[in-house]
Amino acid sequence: MKFLLLLGLVAVALAETTHFEGSCLCVWRPLQVDFWRPESPELVTIDIDVDIRVPAFYLDMVYTRLDQIDMEHEVLIEDLEDAVNRERDSGPTPRAHSYTKYNDWNTVQGWMNTIASSNPNLISKQVIGNTYEGRPMTVLKLGKKSSVTKNAIFLDCGIHAREWIAPAFCQWFVKEALSTYGSDSQMTSLLDQMDVYVLPVFNIDGYDYTHKSNRMWRKTRSRKSGSSCIGADPNRNWNAGWCTIGASSNPCSDTFCGYSPESEIEVKNVADFIRRNKSIIKAYLTIHSYSQLLLFPYSYTFQLAAHHSELLKVAEGASAALRSLYGTSYTSGPGAATIYPAAGGSDDWAYDLGVKYSYTFELRDTGRYGFLLPESQIKPTCEETMLAVKYIAAYVQKNL
Ligand code: ARG
Ligand code: ZN
Repeated sequence: MKFLLLLGLVAVALAETTHFEGSCLCVWRPLQVDFWRPESPELVTIDIDVDIRVPAFYLDMVYTRLDQIDMEHEVLIEDLEDAVNRERDSGPTPRAHSYTKYNDWNTVQGWMNTIASSNPNLISKQVIGNTYEGRPMTVLKLGKKSSVTKNAIFLDCGIHAREWIAPAFCQWFVKEALSTYGSDSQMTSLLDQMDVYVLPVFNIDGYDYTHKSNRMWRKTRSRKSGSSCIGADPNRNWNAGWCTIGASSNPCSDTFCGYSPESEIEVKNVADFIRRNKSIIKAYLTIHSYSQLLLFPYSYTFQLAAHHSELLKVAEGASAALRSLYGTSYTSGPGAATIYPAAGGSDDWAYDLGVKYSYTFELRDTGRYGFLLPESQIKPTCEETMLAVKYIAAYVQKNL
């Protein structure tokens, strides 16, 4: 399928909640606009910026309505089809694996095989299960071989299919770990003392679908008889206040929580892996985009986590490290209060399981390109994010 009609992205500053609720139902619902930030109309609250994708066909209607209710708005991306085409640098196809390109699933898979077999002393591969469509979920274990069981950090990327910068970061992380082990003292000490488990693409079926059919797909690709809508939100499907807030029980919604906790096989595979290894996993890091945030529990409640002040202190240190490279500014805080309450997320689940250092990154940008971050930004984004991840890893290592 070709990327159809596309859109103008509108950032809306909301005036009054009541005002909005009325307009929300009668304007957005029947038009089926695609919410980019937040991810669904239910998550919109007073005084936040909202990014939506509007089919060209609806544009006049949406403008008329926005003007009627006097809502501030601005076009961020005039023509989405064109932006999708510009996101990737031009060049020959098929494209070879590159750390500064968005690699498709087959390319990532080939890369995992190559990198693991060429660095047997530092990496091993482990399949933790298959996706709904039968693709193997491979975790790369990075770390110096040891006869004793080492403590570990779990890092995943690409829970949401359309957030392409996330898998690009996991690949970058693996490359950096291998190429700086032995020269960078921090990386050397980290991999000597701990293992890092990296799942480069969590939602492989969805990721593949964004390359082949619909660039804006977010969810898994699971089907269930009785519904024509496909997939659930793999970051609303964990057993952490499951489907109580900021998630939808409508299978057609982009924030559908699934039919039960861990109904999505990808979530179950990762949850099983973390449960099996819970005595050694000391940190859980999950990479998303976009918004430039460093979030920690909770998102399913406004209550502060038992380790709130420590989690905040570490997040602020990590954000400062990140900013030191290119000046990119991040906001840190607990999910519910910092963006919106949303239950069923992996970070809250891992934290409640006992993994104290549990963080969700929302990488670049803040809406100029949104999910369509140009390939020219992969390198700077990954470089700065490395500083934050290494900051957290060093802290965890010191506080085992
Ligand atoms: N944008 C992410 C999402 O909506 C934020 C996740 C924050 N954590 C959470 N448990 N909701 O999935
Ligand atoms: Zn996401």
